[in-house]
Amino acid sequence: MNLPHMNTLRAIYLMAGFAGIVIATTGPVLAQSDKPSEIEEIARELSTYVFPKTGPYTPEAIVIGNARQIESWARSAHANSAAEAFAHWNADGEIPGACAVCHSGQGFRAFHGLDGSAPGPLQSPIPTGGVVDCETCHKPGLAEIDSVTLPSGVVHPTETALVPCLTCHTGRSSGANVAKVTANMAEDTVNPELSFVNPHYKVAGATWLGGYGGIGYHYPGKTYSGRFLHAKPVASCLSCHEPHALTVNEAICLTCHETGAAQDIRISRQSYDGSGDTAQGIAVDIRANSDLLMREMLDYASQVAKTGLIYDSGRYPYFFADANRDGVVDQTDGRPVTFKGWTPTLLRAAYNWKVVTSDPGIHVHNPHYALELIHDSIESLAKAQGKDFAAFGLMR
Ligand code: HEC
Ligand code: HEC
Ligand code: HEC
Ligand code: HEC
Ligand code: HEC
Repeated sequence: MNLPHMNTLRAIYLMAGFAGIVIATTGPVLAQSDKPSEIEEIARELSTYVFPKTGPYTPEAIVIGNARQIESWARSAHANSAAEAFAHWNADGEIPGACAVCHSGQGFRAFHGLDGSAPGPLQSPIPTGGVVDCETCHKPGLAEIDSVTLPSGVVHPTETALVPCLTCHTGRSSGANVAKVTANMAEDTVNPELSFVNPHYKVAGATWLGGYGGIGYHYPGKTYSGRFLHAKPVASCLSCHEPHALTVNEAICLTCHETGAAQDIRISRQSYDGSGDTAQGIAVDIRANSDLLMREMLDYASQVAKTGLIYDSGRYPYFFADANRDGVVDQTDGRPVTFKGWTPTLLRAAYNWKVVTSDPGIHVHNPHYALELIHDSIESLAKAQGKDFAAFGLMR
């Protein structure tokens, strides 16, 4: 099928009969000026296919417009209904409204008022079973949305195509929130009222917006890099990610970089991790410094908070207690004991560590912001312990 350029597609519905499942979608809602005659022509082409009640079924004979997008999407993480990100609530049968915004297409539409409801936080739960479906990004009405409110409260004006990505990939907390919960407390005294603040997962949209988006905890007196502008024509998520397969087009990188392997790419001429190696990918500096930050957190917990700390990436809320420091998480009634040795200094550093490591693409999305957050976090932990920070040899 010959699909017209996206500028001519708008509120056209394609109903593809798929063994009883009806996939409804529209073309991208990005454009405003459609000629009615073209729309009529496309609508004819995309007519509804109804599966016959009895066989023989010959699916290969069915013409499904959008077949390429459906195929790419079906194999992507967005369509993987078995993933923890969608199946987490299966036993309950419903997803709380606060979670459904990003964990179900239906919840996303309700949040933005695209289902006829008033936009805003969901008033009721959404049934399980949904994924990031076609209409998450192609629902008519999206074109009218021209900004996204980040967890920091920053209202970011944006083009329609990025509204979905920036709604779901911007996390659930902010540095301002961490500043608030740790305000007016002795910096290095354990406060049992504190508990770990999780920025949430795959926060690429928030890291991309950097200091301006405000996901990281910003230390007073420091300045932070804003949105990573990269280089023209790299302008948004869609410059690199195909929105259906979600894959990164490495050929695009090769127009400017010597390699398409993101882990190996480096532009910066200074060594951030004290290794002196400026041939390694910037990802290596970021990883080295985040590993150092984790070591400093463990040391601080032990020396200042006087409690053993164990990080377990596979178990929420990730930070557990090890009072006798035998390297094994403490247990009470067979359950792991959550770490309660938080001081403002430790909580802020741990939050920044999690922000940086929650985005597996941060070296591409905003390497400078990542390096700044880690640098300042290590510096604050070192200072609190009277260590010579300069001896680490880190650059900011
Ligand atoms: C702003 C959007 C957003 C909101 C709101 C949100 N999440 Fe998520 N969540 C995500 C994204 C994006 C991922 C994808 C992470 C991944 O691939 O593992 C995710 C992943 C998860 C995962 C899987 C983590 C893993 O290790 O695989 C769980 C569990 C989860 N979220 C729970 C929740 C709960 C509970 C709520 C409501 C209290 C919630 N989320 C609200 C965006 C959100
Ligand atoms: C996460 C968001 C997202 C989801 C989910 C999504 N799309 Fe898209 N789709 C886009 C964006 C963004 C574009 C514009 C692409 C571009 O600018 O290159 C697009 C473009 C398209 C186009 C026009 C392609 C072209 O080359 O001009 C079709 C057709 C399409 N999508 C169909 C679908 C179908 C069918 C599904 C479900 C199986 C789907 N999309 C799911 C974001 C999405
Ligand atoms: C309704 C919320 C939602 C929207 C909208 C959304 N995502 Fe996602 N995205 C998720 C969730 C949830 C996951 C994790 C899914 C899983 O674990 O299978 C995810 C996973 C991903 C992944 C990881 C793929 C992988 O292989 O692990 C990428 C990349 C991604 N999204 C990019 C995008 C881009 C780019 C856009 C905008 C075009 C977008 N997403 C829009 C919720 C969303
Ligand atoms: C300059 C190109 C580029 C831009 C722009 C970009 N990304 Fe990425 N993204 C990548 C690369 C490359 C990776 C994988 C890095 C690696 O594996 O080393 C990645 C990784 C990701 C991941 C993690 C995937 C996984 O497998 O866990 C998510 C989610 C994601 N990007 C979403 C986004 C969103 C949302 C935007 C827009 C706000 C965006 N990206 C902008 C290139 C880009
Ligand atoms: C149009 C040219 C161009 C394209 C295309 C491009 N980049 Fe870049 N990239 C740059 C420039 C210029 C910088 C330095 C920007 C800065 O630091 O302000 C950069 C910086 C980076 C960095 C950080 C390097 C460092 O040492 O700070 C990474 C990682 C990166 N790009 C990965 C990618 C990947 C992966 C792709 C493809 C998905 C890509 N880039 C596409 C031009 C490009």
